[in-house]
Amino acid sequence: MKTTGNTVFITGGSAGIGLAIAKKLTAEGNHIIINGRNKERLDNALKELPGAVGIQGDFAVEADRIRVAEELKNNHPDVNVIINNAGAAFGYLLSERPMHLRKHRLK
Ligand SMILES: NC(=O)c1ccc[n+]([C@@H]2O[C@H](COP(=O)([O-])OP(=O)(O)OC[C@H]3O[C@@H](n4cnc5c(N)ncnc54)[C@H](OP(=O)(O)O)[C@@H]3O)[C@@H](O)[C@H]2O)c1
Repeated sequence: MKTTGNTVFITGGSAGIGLAIAKKLTAEGNHIIINGRNKERLDNALKELPGAVGIQGDFAVEADRIRVAEELKNNHPDVNVIINNAGAAFGYLLSERPMHLRKHRLK
């Protein structure tokens, strides 16, 4: 795969690993479209990504997934790379309380 000149859509691109990938790919000459649920977080991330575009939406919600897909199809038909990164990482110790009762993040 060529690593420059792509149009890349990154779910969960407004923070963490997704934002780090967005910065790296922007620096390498790619057009970046990022997504996230929180509009303010999305707008702050865009300030760090010259030329990038944001599409707000919750990928756990079907209606949002369909809306975002339509927006990509209509306004960014040149997307040729999708990085499906949105999500959350939780760290658990098997010796501790049941998983669903813990709230410790990995970082
Ligand atoms: N960090 C780790 O050590 C680690 C380890 C293994 C796997 N991972 C995986 O790597 C991915 C990124 O992790 P991270 O540590 O970079 O997380 P992070 O810093 O919490 O960032 C998560 C990103 O995803 C967005 N997001 C979360 N849920 C979303 C949803 N339902 N729809 C749309 N956007 C959503 C967040 O923005 P909003 O909150 O505004 O939506 C944010 O932009 C996750 O899928 C995670 O499971 C991470």
